Amino acid sequence: MIKLGGGLITHKDKLCTINREILDGITSVLSRTDKKLIIIHGAGSFGHIKSKKYMLQKGRVQGLDQDKAIAEVRTDMLELNRLVMDSLSSHGIIAESYPPHNWAEGTGPDFRGNLPISTGVTVTFGDVVKDNEKEFGILSGDDLVLRYALETDDVERVIFAIGGVDGLMKVPPSEATPDDLIEELTDEIEYRSEHYSEIDVTGGIGLKIERGARIAEKGVEVLLVNGYHSERVLSAIEGKMVRGTKILPRNC
Ligand code: IPE
Repeated sequence: MIKLGGGLITHKDKLCTINREILDGITSVLSRTDKKLIIIHGAGSFGHIKSKKYMLQKGRVQGLDQDKAIAEVRTDMLELNRLVMDSLSSHGIIAESYPPHNWAEGTGPDFRGNLPISTGVTVTFGDVVKDNEKEFGILSGDDLVLRYALETDDVERVIFAIGGVDGLMKVPPSEATPDDLIEELTDEIEYRSEHYSEIDVTGGIGLKIERGARIAEKGVEVLLVNGYHSERVLSAIEGKMVRGTKILPRNC
């Protein structure tokens, strides 16, 4: 299973702008594995900017034109998904895509819905979904990763491909040197991370680490790698040694 971070495949601060070079680099290496992939992508600038402006992560808030924003973010996410699917098919990967607003309800790790799975490559993504209490909310791709990892048979490993950083660093990436990479993350390791909550409506790196640790507890390997180096993504998928952060189960 691979999560393509929204900050990796889009230009995060420019509304609805794809990072085509990076996306194509990754889909190209994905075509070189025989593994049966589940690909989950984030939103980046196709989701976070408008969601933040209209507070979609909070559910219904009076006084905001949220209905228009919900429709727009869903359309923008379908457009990003189309770009991902086109990039996959241009490299010969035939995949099936399942937009969560059609099958999932609720946000966080306990969202409801039967996880759709293709006989070939499965694709889904973070989305605006219905919610019983809040009316609607943002379901993060990281929660989709968690549930797919826990509920799909024979998941070998989960790779979080992130933008521009080699993995989890001991200090925020802006201050980090290559030596600050945490190669194996256990409970004992301390680090200081930043969350860009002014643009990010989901959980940033902290959410990946938390969900990753839960997946690792089930015996599935979890790795964070720099998606700017597509060869690392391929090595990680194949289980080869690679620069990145391996998330180990808690209390081990
Ligand atoms: C967010 O999904 C979905 C929307 C904002 C609509 P993610 O939490 O998976 O997105 P990234 O990876 O942070 O961009």
